[in-house]
Amino acid sequence: MKGVIFLFSLIILLLIYKLFKNKQTAQIEDALQNSNLKSNPLNAESVRTFYNETTEKFRKVYGDIIQAFRTKNVEDYLDYTIKSADLKDGQTILDAGCGIGGPSKYFASKLDIQIEACTISDYQAEMGKKLIEEAQLQDKVHIQRADYHDMAKIYPKDHFDRVIFLESFGHSPDKKMLIEAAWEVLKPGGFLYIKDLFEREAGGDEDMKKIKEICEEINKAYHYAIADLHEIISIVRKKGFIFTSVKTPEVDMDLFEHLTISNDFQNLFDISKINSWENYIFPIDFLEIKVQKPPFMIDFNKHLYHMNQPEAQ
Ligand SMILES: C[S@@+](CC[C@H](N)C(=O)[O-])C[C@H]1O[C@@H](n2cnc3c(N)ncnc32)[C@H](O)[C@@H]1O
Repeated sequence: MKGVIFLFSLIILLLIYKLFKNKQTAQIEDALQNSNLKSNPLNAESVRTFYNETTEKFRKVYGDIIQAFRTKNVEDYLDYTIKSADLKDGQTILDAGCGIGGPSKYFASKLDIQIEACTISDYQAEMGKKLIEEAQLQDKVHIQRADYHDMAKIYPKDHFDRVIFLESFGHSPDKKMLIEAAWEVLKPGGFLYIKDLFEREAGGDEDMKKIKEICEEINKAYHYAIADLHEIISIVRKKGFIFTSVKTPEVDMDLFEHLTISNDFQNLFDISKINSWENYIFPIDFLEIKVQKPPFMIDFNKHLYHMNQPEAQ
């Protein structure tokens, strides 16, 4: 009898210990999450304030197209974007993270398209609207202040032929959520197009350490979270997008703007300045990613692509 009581007490003690342990683990996880949030304050609100305060500085150097990777005559780069993102007459496009609408204005002046454009910055949205009205393009381009993470709440489902991010994607602290939102608003058969900077990869540990340090500086200075290509490829593939291409923008080297703009800008802000080219390691790659939301077979509600059937029977 004594043995049974002893065993019973032991089991009770073990259960109490386990309960206590689980609670402690949950508390530690909570604390870790909170500290992680504190050490990484990037969020849509901080980006909003950043662009409300800095857009005019950007404009002094960049003009109306706020992209670092570009051609000397930036319209050459926008023509390239039209080709590369396959923008065509008749399409409906979402320009996610549109700045002051410079690219959208250009695309609408060249093509018979409808563009919804959004920026997190109040200042940019107001300025963008004004510039679009001045260009008399308000029937083709609609700009609003909105968080692109909310696009699935703002725009209709299965609506856009293209969702494009032109050096805006990297501002997102939650790229999985952003890609999933883009999936929702894209038509079946529509394309997600991202042009952005991605962390470079190098063979040696020392070089990799430097790359990470410089990326960290850029992230802090520009309220960015430079994306990891492997992670993004994995997210889009897991979501079910069909991979079309990932490449460096194919810009003629004679036309290419060799960092002049970026350096001018860094001088203006006094951040991430390249003071010496000795031992300098370029920390990023500019890349374009183009993926397609698979066209659906209406009858079977299955993806043609994944079914691997040429025609519905
Ligand atoms: C480097 S600028 C590029 C602007 C524009 N694509 C262009 O080519 O001129 C980055 C843009 O991303 C926008 N952005 C960043 N985070 C955003 C968010 N959460 N929602 C909407 N726009 C965002 C900023 O407001 C800014 O307009």
